[in-house]
Amino acid sequence: MKATFHGHAVVSLETEDGTKLLFDPFINGNEACNLNVDTVEADYIFVTHAHSDHLGDTVEIAKRTKAKVITTVEIASYLSSFDLETHGMQPGGSHTFDFGEVKLTPAIHGSSIEIDGKPHTLGVASGILVTADAKTVYHVGDTALYSDMKLIGDLVDIDLAFIPIGDNYTMGPEDASLAAKWLQAKRVVPIHYNVLPLTEQDPENYIKMLDKDVGFVPEIGESFAV
Ligand code: NI
Ligand code: MN
Repeated sequence: MKATFHGHAVVSLETEDGTKLLFDPFINGNEACNLNVDTVEADYIFVTHAHSDHLGDTVEIAKRTKAKVITTVEIASYLSSFDLETHGMQPGGSHTFDFGEVKLTPAIHGSSIEIDGKPHTLGVASGILVTADAKTVYHVGDTALYSDMKLIGDLVDIDLAFIPIGDNYTMGPEDASLAAKWLQAKRVVPIHYNVLPLTEQDPENYIKMLDKDVGFVPEIGESFAV
């Protein structure tokens, strides 16, 4: 499996059989992102929660690519109104797809969408574990540090974790360094920094807080092997 970081919380994975998985495709308005809404490829789109910097351009991309959207039941229901193909799940639930297994995890965070200037809550926020090609990747989503990350780390053999470090809306670097330790991820890529105001962080400083050779700051758009 190959992984690519595209800025903020946008991540893509490609399995050995060529299946393309796209996470939290916030492309328009994301100055760090190398992708284009009109050309990005996806077979499946994952949405951790409804905030606009995660739901992003999901509707437009899924309409064009016919990608199936895997997300919480409430967001799936909302997206169904756009005639998209969806698969709704909830934290704690797992399901086996053609490419591998998906499990949602808790995330301590909101999940609202703004309609006519008013927030509407769409269920709870989630993190997403994907196991494919005998590797497990964890997109932690937007979340506070929480102690069940220790449990997830004990139960799941995580090869790669994408962990938010931006602070203010999510964990900051110190809490995110504890998250990396508790999750026992073999490799950690920091996300959710320097795109939104109030999330300015130095990712290199963050990876210095982790065990040797765990933290990794990939070039935007550059694929690496999981
Ligand atoms: Ni959020
Ligand atoms: Mn966010």
